[in-house]
Amino acid sequence: MVNIGVLISGSGTNLQAIIDAIDKGLIKGNIKVIISNRKDAYGLERGKKANIESIFIDPKGYSNEEYGRILVQELKKRDVELVVLAGFLKILSKDFIAAYRNQIINIHPSLIPSFCGKGYYGEKVHRAVLDYGVKYTGATVHFVDEGADTGPIILQEVVKVDNNDTVETLREKVLRVEHKILVEAIRLYCEGKITIEGRKVIINRE
Ligand code: GRF
Repeated sequence: MVNIGVLISGSGTNLQAIIDAIDKGLIKGNIKVIISNRKDAYGLERGKKANIESIFIDPKGYSNEEYGRILVQELKKRDVELVVLAGFLKILSKDFIAAYRNQIINIHPSLIPSFCGKGYYGEKVHRAVLDYGVKYTGATVHFVDEGADTGPIILQEVVKVDNNDTVETLREKVLRVEHKILVEAIRLYCEGKITIEGRKVIINRE
């Protein structure tokens, strides 16, 4: 069983998808801790309801490096081997990335490398998708490296953009796909079916 730590900042619907998948026995892993940088993140309630240790760690007063060191300490203390960013809206420090090289997974609500990077999160992504007029968007699960949304891509899935889509309808459609591919990526990781060769992520589906 792989020990998983989930970092959140908001409602935690991606976290809920992971909790539900573990409850159904789909993932050979267990969530050891949920950490939020926001006290009011509803995802903390979801964790408590699932009897998972769920803690708010206030970033106020810490530099990004200091905060990163605190997070790593809390994760290592619980033998976490896989860190999942499920709507975590802070950039991880270099030390954090180094401490968990190729063991950090992030979910992003677009087809990277489109509509990603600094400033592209949540509804801003879908707004940019609609404004550009692309015919397809989607979601991406990727390993986290020092850049913003630049790590090797694990899974992607496409979502069609319809003429009458709004930010809200697009967000809903993409969120469903996020839940699906995030759970699948974690399942594959926990079964040792993911290898990385440079920028390429090889998935062994047997
Ligand atoms: C999702 O859109 C995710 O792609 C982005 O932040 C949002 C998190 O949603 N990273 P939730 O907190 O998992 O519901």
